[in-house]
Amino acid sequence: MKNIILLGAPGTGKGTQAANISKWYGIGHISTGDIFRSNIKAGTELGLTAKAYIDAGHLVPDEITIGMVKSKLSEPAYKEGFILDGFPRNIPQAEALDGYLLEAGGKRIHAVVSIFVPDETIVLRILGRRLCSNCGASYHTVYNPPAKEGLCDACGGKVVSRDDDSEATIRERLSVYYAQTEPIIERYRKLGIFTQITGHEIIDETSDEMHEALKKIFCE
Ligand code: AP5
Ligand code: MG
Repeated sequence: MKNIILLGAPGTGKGTQAANISKWYGIGHISTGDIFRSNIKAGTELGLTAKAYIDAGHLVPDEITIGMVKSKLSEPAYKEGFILDGFPRNIPQAEALDGYLLEAGGKRIHAVVSIFVPDETIVLRILGRRLCSNCGASYHTVYNPPAKEGLCDACGGKVVSRDDDSEATIRERLSVYYAQTEPIIERYRKLGIFTQITGHEIIDETSDEMHEALKKIFCE
């Protein structure tokens, strides 16, 4: 059983790589952003509250996010391990996660991998991102286009941009990342479980580096 955290600024490829890791090692992927977006789509109270923060590029308040992640982690699907993508995103969330893992029978995080991509590349990547409005599959207009323009390869659904992917919101999300999320790296560096990889321009090259970074912990 291995528990992984993926860190990195918006658009560095956390969702893309988490989907790979989940397939390679058979562990569940938890993306807080995806949970919020499915609640927005379903029109739940959680979704309505979260939407205003997400559209502004700000963090959804901890009292909402922490409870939501704890309840997800306690589902049977994550007993054999998990990849957290988008959580923790500040010090209180990192502390809450430690507390939860301790209470859940002394579980721990085995590896924290951060993906580094320069800011200007991030902006271009996010502006080119497209998602299937039906199944959520992720594409990029240049780096990973669907076979038929505007249509999902997997289900034929319409491929659209995310509501929070405007340039102004991307820049706000970047400043929130540097102010609130990057400081948590030190916590994991001190524990000796932190690795940084480069988010190369070719998705498969990033996947190879990710595989290399995780190989040793899955062979332990
Ligand atoms: P979230 O959904 O987590 O967004 P994010 O962190 O801003 O990250 P993204 O999903 O934009 O990017 P990604 O790193 O997953 O990259 P992707 O693989 O898609 O959060 C959204 C919002 O929800 C937050 O702003 C906040 O409001 C709220 N929220 C979420 N978690 C929260 C929390 N814990 N606390 C409070 N609020 C929270 O890749 C991007 C694009 O690049 C894609 O098109 C992809 O195809 C392409 N690509 C990927 N890798 C490569 C590569 N190597 N080369 C070229 N292209 C690539
Ligand atoms: Mg994502």
